[in-house]
Amino acid sequence: MSGTEWTWVPAAAEIAREAGARLREFFAQGVETEYKGDVDLVTVADRTVEKLIRTRLGERFAEHGIYGEEGTREGMEREFRWYVDPLDGTTNFAHGFPQFCVSLGLERRGAGLKADEDGELVAGVIYDPMRDELFCAERGRGAELNGKSLRVSGTRVLAESLVATGFPSRKRHASPNIHFYQEFTLRSHGVRRAGSAALDLAYVAAGRLEAFWEFHLNPWDTAAGILLVEEAGGRATDFAGGRFRLDSREVLASNGWIHEELVGLFTNLFAGRELTPIPTPQEFAAARAARKAAG
Ligand code: IPD
Ligand code: CA
Ligand code: CA
Repeated sequence: MSGTEWTWVPAAAEIAREAGARLREFFAQGVETEYKGDVDLVTVADRTVEKLIRTRLGERFAEHGIYGEEGTREGMEREFRWYVDPLDGTTNFAHGFPQFCVSLGLERRGAGLKADEDGELVAGVIYDPMRDELFCAERGRGAELNGKSLRVSGTRVLAESLVATGFPSRKRHASPNIHFYQEFTLRSHGVRRAGSAALDLAYVAAGRLEAFWEFHLNPWDTAAGILLVEEAGGRATDFAGGRFRLDSREVLASNGWIHEELVGLFTNLFAGRELTPIPTPQEFAAARAARKAAG
């Protein structure tokens, strides 16, 4: 860690590293997959590592609450709350695809906040155990990757950007995201769909991606990554450019420079404008057959 005076990051980083080491062991030995839903996977690694993180956070931050993907709900009335995703990228993990991480985000909830109101994100740690990359941030103290200061990219236009998204594992038929995927593909250097939203956000903070968006994420996917993006000089909002909220189910994060352009594109696409016609598979096959017949 660098000279930055961190408050919560050192202990959280230690916990994330220990959790990541457990994930690496499970990954090496291979684990069985269970189904939470249609294609919503879970493994013994998700559950074991959430338990480990819960124990460690309890030891280091006894007065904090914990909200974990695998069911932990502790001290929901407390001033500080950790959002825990013990394994972000479970589908990748279950298939031996080495792109996943541990994500720990800390929110400070001022007195009198309603249950559905956001506090302030104050710390975030994301650890990629396969690359040994530790991303961390605290509000007002910047963001770092393995002790080096992080800054978003300086790219000014979507046309020169690499961007990322993800798709939900529940209610897949209700997601419109494939249309956005298509339009962003046509307007950028490309769209990555690597399967870990927390790492996607960390990559925006690190300047490896210019932007990331996704529908229907949960607070444990986004809490740490949003703070990383903001502390690295980027922006995070909903799709209309409004304030990002942990339960809003809309995440649009970018390097800041291209943010207005992205919001404009979302606005137009939601209004049915700027959709690019592309051939259906049937039209494509018919054209191919016609070319063949013509010799
Ligand atoms: C998932 C990943 C993925 C995103 C999904 C998330 P999980 O989290 O972040 O990239 O597209 O929407 O649910 O289930 O692997 O923790
Ligand atoms: Ca997740
Ligand atoms: Ca998870």
